[in-house]
Amino acid sequence: MDYFTLRDGALHAEDVPLTAIADAVGTPVYVYSAATIERHIRVFRDALAGAGEGEPLIAFAVKANPNGAVLAAMARAGLGADVVSAGELLRAVAAGIAPEKIVFSGVGKTREEMAIALSHGIGQFNLESEPEAVTLSAVASEMGREVAVAYRVNPDVDAGTHAKISTGKSENKFGIPIDTAPEAYARLSALPGLKAQGVAVHIGSQLTDLAPLEAAFAKVGTLITELRAAGHAITLADLGGGLGVSYNPALPLPPSPADYGAMVKRVTTGWGVRLAFEPGRLIVANAGLLLSRVIRVKDGAAHPWVIVDAAMNDLLRPSLYDAWHDIRAIAPTGERIVANIVGPVCESGDTFAIAREMDAVSDGDLVAFFSAGAYGATMAGTYNSRALVPEVMVSGDKWAVVRPRPPLEALIEAETIPDWLKA
Ligand code: LLP
Repeated sequence: MDYFTLRDGALHAEDVPLTAIADAVGTPVYVYSAATIERHIRVFRDALAGAGEGEPLIAFAVKANPNGAVLAAMARAGLGADVVSAGELLRAVAAGIAPEKIVFSGVGKTREEMAIALSHGIGQFNLESEPEAVTLSAVASEMGREVAVAYRVNPDVDAGTHAKISTGKSENKFGIPIDTAPEAYARLSALPGLKAQGVAVHIGSQLTDLAPLEAAFAKVGTLITELRAAGHAITLADLGGGLGVSYNPALPLPPSPADYGAMVKRVTTGWGVRLAFEPGRLIVANAGLLLSRVIRVKDGAAHPWVIVDAAMNDLLRPSLYDAWHDIRAIAPTGERIVANIVGPVCESGDTFAIAREMDAVSDGDLVAFFSAGAYGATMAGTYNSRALVPEVMVSGDKWAVVRPRPPLEALIEAETIPDWLKA
């Protein structure tokens, strides 16, 4: 569900015609809908109401979209943040997210990042290994702090999603094996500066089946019972993110937040802990689109090539994961074509879709890549020396550039050439 709709034959973001944004900001540009973000937060929160002890902690996975305006919307709604680097942590704090609602995940936290997070008084570290626990204990002790921690356990469950975004199998780099967790928690209790309060799990992203999540959560429940019996005061279970969203309207819908909430409540009954969640994609994916202009259409062997001004450096998901994004004309005529949609970057991988049936478009027309609010702008780069793609936030009839397009000169000014190399 989103607030991108056709009105009088032209696609709008809430009450703003996308043509107005393209005219003012140029293309490519990401456009986010604040009302859609707010709606997704509400739906997720409602679905989890009553699960676990007290109010669940919903910690937005900043990696999905770290734009300050997006994070400010999370802060305004009272969400926490799941961060995986000092950069994400500082962005979350700067956007007004309460530090005690911040969870620090990530498989390779450095001592420096640990110190920064400790100095901000974040709520919990999700530890991914015993050596990491030893390092955090040392850093916290040096700083005279005590911090709440959880081990991220690896339940060895196949999430049934793309291999590059599966994280809960034993061959993946994430977490500690769940079978060895009781001994790891026993050793953890001897480490100064750390208070083991939780267990964390996250098995992958864009999950379209609840069964692997349920299997993983059930294993966490068994572990919590075991840890309690061993004398650990476990008060929080962080069940991660991962719920999939609809990218292709022709495919069956993924499980709804309500289905997910019902499953969570069923599995966690009797755990006696507060629950935390780290949704990313679910909150922002369908709240954003990438607006792009057709540079030109050229003939192809099987189908015409629609060359747009967005490229793999702006939206990497199709190149990296063969991801499917709906591509629509901003002013559809009703006529349809079958075409290959590609960017201008000099790689065959810079391809958004092959033999796609879509709205007929010609040179100069605007198109939108839907469901691009998660893992879109944040994975953008400047490959082929293209400027970093700008971002716009819309709310009702208001809109603002929330990250401007840097001038091309910025690419040059960011670097220095040593004198001894100058001609
Ligand atoms: N928590 C942890 C520990 C994670 O690693 C992730 C995502 C999340 C939460 C949020 O997952 P979500 O609710 O968004 O599924 N770039 C890929 C997705 C990578 C996901 C990485 N971890 C993509 O474009 O599909």
